[in-house]
Amino acid sequence: MKIVEVHHPLVRHKLGLLREASTAPALFRQVVGEIATLLAYEATADLPLDDTGIETWAGPLTVGRCDQSRITLVPILRAGLGFLPGVQVLLPSAPVSVIGLRRDERTLQPHAYYQRFVEDIAGRTALLIDPMLATAGSAIAAIDALKAAGVTRVKAIFLVSAPEGLRALEARHPDTEVWTAAIDERLNDHGYILPGLGDAGDRIFGTP
Ligand code: PRP
Ligand code: URA
Repeated sequence: MKIVEVHHPLVRHKLGLLREASTAPALFRQVVGEIATLLAYEATADLPLDDTGIETWAGPLTVGRCDQSRITLVPILRAGLGFLPGVQVLLPSAPVSVIGLRRDERTLQPHAYYQRFVEDIAGRTALLIDPMLATAGSAIAAIDALKAAGVTRVKAIFLVSAPEGLRALEARHPDTEVWTAAIDERLNDHGYILPGLGDAGDRIFGTP
């Protein structure tokens, strides 16, 4: 499985701000969005371009155009919504498909509660977005659903990933391509990433 840990100094600086327990939700959301843009920039480096003829002030020219109708952005609710605006800065026309998954805190199994994909999703590249990859149960369930709907390529963007989650994702969906700001140490006994960020959804939405 392709895994890219993005070491850009701005990503590392901003991730450090998120790691501070005292960072309040408003700043947390803003910085999550900024990192999402930086990760999306890396993850879209090989998107195909179509040659398109245009008229310029100096005459005709062929330019490259990215066909965003071949992509769908897929935030995993809820915390993935915090990532979405930062990705949309770069891909404003890409349609959004959503999947709602909530981890059972006891079993750590994802519970699916909502799914709405764009109708013509088959054959598209999905940009899966979620701040946290812990056990990978949620990401695997999302990719299962995307592939069942006909998605042919999944690029996944995670703010923080656990090594255990990356191994599990590779075992189930080795064709996934992953960009992440950090591969952290490990999961604790409750399935939280160490050092991680704590509960990303709670910090984004200001819930206890
Ligand atoms: C978090 C996070 C991921 C998932 C990661 O969501 O945003 O979706 O946990 O854990 P996993 O890799 O072990 O599945 P959570 O289920 O807490 O829901 P929320 O986004 O609504 O807070
Ligand atoms: N979900 C989170 O928000 N944080 C973790 O560390 C693990 C799952």
